[in-house]
Amino acid sequence: MSVVHHAVFGQPIAHSQSPRIHAAFAKAQGIALDYRAIEASPQDFAAALEAFAADDGVGANVTLPHKEAAFALCATTTSRAQRAGAVNTLLRKGERWHGDNTDGIGLVRDLTGRHGLDLRGRRVLLLGAGGAARGVAPALLDAGILELVVANRSPERADALADAMGEPGRAISAYWDGLREQGDFELIINATSAGRSDGAAFSLPLSLVNSLTTAVDLNYGEAAIPFLAWARAAGCRNSFDGLGMLVEQAAESFQLWHGVRPDTNEV
Ligand code: ATR
Repeated sequence: MSVVHHAVFGQPIAHSQSPRIHAAFAKAQGIALDYRAIEASPQDFAAALEAFAADDGVGANVTLPHKEAAFALCATTTSRAQRAGAVNTLLRKGERWHGDNTDGIGLVRDLTGRHGLDLRGRRVLLLGAGGAARGVAPALLDAGILELVVANRSPERADALADAMGEPGRAISAYWDGLREQGDFELIINATSAGRSDGAAFSLPLSLVNSLTTAVDLNYGEAAIPFLAWARAAGCRNSFDGLGMLVEQAAESFQLWHGVRPDTNEV
């Protein structure tokens, strides 16, 4: 059996769970897979990717901070990657890279499949307006939510994200300091990197929470602790980190590369 070469690029990358997840999928499917974690700085990313391609690399995941750079260097991209302006999955086609973004569908599958949430008709608060937020916003709208309110520390980025969705009635921006006036939400998503950098406590108005509120942090592990601690203290019905989303987006990438969708429950 010939070995297929894949990798995940990021910085930092040492703690990435992607190699383990893809190894488990490949084992279950009987595919001989070599999936490496490659650390690359923003300056080195493009060259590292070319070196990987020259070494028979045929598919790659891209994580922080390279998702926008990956989008820019693709020859072709899917429409969902275009709406996100970011790519997390690369597929080699001839001499070029084709880019997709499976983050949004990964989040929606985790929320609806694993956690049994019905997103239709729900009000959703998205905290943050960087790459992670842009990756998931289109898929949430496509899943039939009622309204997406985007709040960001720098308000102009929240405005830009809401505008980019092209649905002025459904995707709107709000001031972080004005969240108290926004009512309550059935779903609150932390897409900020606050927990990754300073570890300081999260503080948001309790008025955002109702008896049905689910809170999800797109980060996983330690980086998700401050937001999830707030969510529990605020009385959210359910709160969890982004590990389930990570597994689901990996399954979507795996399907693009290998043509089969692995069973994510085992992983
Ligand atoms: P990512 O790819 O993880 O989204 P990013 O594009 O650098 O990374 O975006 C980081 C996000 O976290 C931004 O929304 C950022 O807010 P600003 O646009 O105002 O910078 C947000 N963020 C980072 N630290 C934060 C903090 N301490 N409090 C609130 N938001 C924070």
